[in-house]
Amino acid sequence: MNQDVVVLAAGKGSRMKSNKSKVLHNIAGVPMIRRVLDTATTLANVNLHLIVGHQGDTVAKACQSFEANLVWQNNPKGTGDAVKRAVDSLDPDGMTLTLYGDVPLIRSETLQKMASLANDNTLVLLTVVLESAQGYGRIVRNEAGKVTAIVEQKDASEAEEKIKEANTGILLAPNQKLIPWLSQLKCNNAQGEYYLTDVIAMAARDGVEIVTVHPSSEAEVSGVNDKIQLAQLERELQKNQAEILMAEGLTLADPARFDLRGKLKIGMDCQVDVNCIFEGDVELGDNVSIAANCHLKNCVIGDNTVISSNTLIENSQVGDNCNLGPFARLRPGSELAEGAKIGNFVETKKAIIGKGSKISHLSYVGDTQMGEGVNVGAGTITCNYDGVNKSLTQIGDGVFVGSNTSLVAPVEIGEGATIAAGSTVTKTVNKDQLAFARARQTNKDNWPKPVKKKS
Ligand code: UD1
Ligand code: CA
Repeated sequence: MNQDVVVLAAGKGSRMKSNKSKVLHNIAGVPMIRRVLDTATTLANVNLHLIVGHQGDTVAKACQSFEANLVWQNNPKGTGDAVKRAVDSLDPDGMTLTLYGDVPLIRSETLQKMASLANDNTLVLLTVVLESAQGYGRIVRNEAGKVTAIVEQKDASEAEEKIKEANTGILLAPNQKLIPWLSQLKCNNAQGEYYLTDVIAMAARDGVEIVTVHPSSEAEVSGVNDKIQLAQLERELQKNQAEILMAEGLTLADPARFDLRGKLKIGMDCQVDVNCIFEGDVELGDNVSIAANCHLKNCVIGDNTVISSNTLIENSQVGDNCNLGPFARLRPGSELAEGAKIGNFVETKKAIIGKGSKISHLSYVGDTQMGEGVNVGAGTITCNYDGVNKSLTQIGDGVFVGSNTSLVAPVEIGEGATIAAGSTVTKTVNKDQLAFARARQTNKDNWPKPVKKKS
């Protein structure tokens, strides 16, 4: 059966105190609304309908890749009104699942459980028993324990307010019934809104069976209304991700100080110290060790590589047995072969570094092709930019670059060549040559030292 999924995202979210739409705030690097849509697409035969209003264009753009049916809800008049606006696009013989753009941690397993219970004469409701159901709609049951209605907090009697079973807002209903129910909704309630939750009483009235399902945790159905709740769900998701990785064998110095905003693939015996951030797609080989405060984004790290603290790596590839940092920065396009070393305060960009080559201290190597076994002295700079264009520096195998050298690109240094310290190299250096490109030292005998003037 076709499943229409209506995702409500028209709200303003004023408590976020932000110019950005609430549903576009990130949880673990992904906008909340995209998390919800991602989860929805794990279900079979899904038609997505996205209800937008406040900042609708921006929300729609951020969700473009899902190709959802975009439904505008200007002048929103409640959750029932929101779903009603999608009615014309619903499959008359299908089912509708409602999801909220600001309830980002809902799990596919829970939705699948709901789907497995659905049929033409059943409404499936996701409810949760809370210590305090403050703010939530309450699930009203009769003596036989059957659900008969949902009352919103603002419309609840004193007795109803004491009910601990809360409405999560997520429900699954057959369209043959839902569509007429939606047209019967009234707004004669405390908030003057069309409540989607009023369809529950209609279902009970029409003899439709109402079954309830519970989530695996409270976080799964928690909504985000402010930055405090946003941070709480962020930590919740980070904790879950950390636990999955630890179960796969990752050693984390402190799972509470670990952030993954994307996907992390690990080999055997990898260890990660505190405060590291992994972004995008990161892949670690076996036995990789990462010290504190490192930030790795879209990169592959080879076996046995040691990354010392405060190292940043972005869109780069690092081979086996490499040594990075502390305080190294690999910018996009850095490719390190086996056994390479990038030491402290070294920045690389679009740089191919050959096997066993070392750039140990205080250097910038950009737009460079470097061979094997090269030793680059401290303070070496590739001058790759003339203010308009970028040019290439080529360094052959076994080259020795003395400290404080400027390599003015385009320039080529042949295999086995040596560059004297302090050189500014502007011309090709051939194989096995020694290049001096600095003023010669002159020494003067008996140099009269300056004396301080009397004032
Ligand atoms: C709703 C439920 C309540 C439930 C709670 C769970 C109703 C009437 N009440 O209450 O039973 O316990 O969620 O969190 O359904 N939205 C729109 N258009 C609208 C109104 C809302 O898109 O016209 C969106 C909001 O942006 C939000 C979601 O729907 O993402 C929920 O709306 P909200 O006003 O927060 O509903 P609650 O009062 O919390
Ligand atoms: Ca809410």
